[in-house]
Amino acid sequence: MNQEVLTLWPELEWIQDEGLRNKTAKTWELALEKSVLTANDLYRIPFTLLCGPDLKVSFMTHKRCVVHLAKKSGETMNEFFKDQLPVDMDVLISGAILADVGKLLEYELDEQDMAVRGTYGKYLRHPFSGVSLAEQCGVPPAVCHIIAAHAGEGDMIKRSTEAYIVHHADFMTFLPFTSRLQY
Ligand SMILES: [Fe+2]
Repeated sequence: MNQEVLTLWPELEWIQDEGLRNKTAKTWELALEKSVLTANDLYRIPFTLLCGPDLKVSFMTHKRCVVHLAKKSGETMNEFFKDQLPVDMDVLISGAILADVGKLLEYELDEQDMAVRGTYGKYLRHPFSGVSLAEQCGVPPAVCHIIAAHAGEGDMIKRSTEAYIVHHADFMTFLPFTSRLQY
């Protein structure tokens, strides 16, 4: 596995199936190859462009938080619901790691080295570019479905259990940053 990707994503080790783990890592490797962003930029740029330039939560901090929340949620659901609502942990973790991989193609850097949405990203949001990258690396449909459905686009279709988990882990850690009741 590519060392740069493994350093970004120690959570790859949680994927039990070696084939899926390698395909997940390969997708990130391909995204970094194609992106104007480097791995180091991902520790620097804010996780969303919607909170202005002062947001201190980096892309990697948010993405890793979502993966940790998704894993804990899946484990808790498996513990309580057992075979009534089985969660495939490998599919869930791979999907959570890959949900925003397409953002590496969505962004461009402006003159101040700040991330902005580029022309490609305006035409193809990251759920689409993410699926494209993942399919090139042999990632299976159950995981590509999570990438496709994790954001608002997924509201138009029926989500798998694993996609629901990633969607909510993502949004519960996004919406309070952009819009929350404060008193
Ligand atoms: Fe996203």
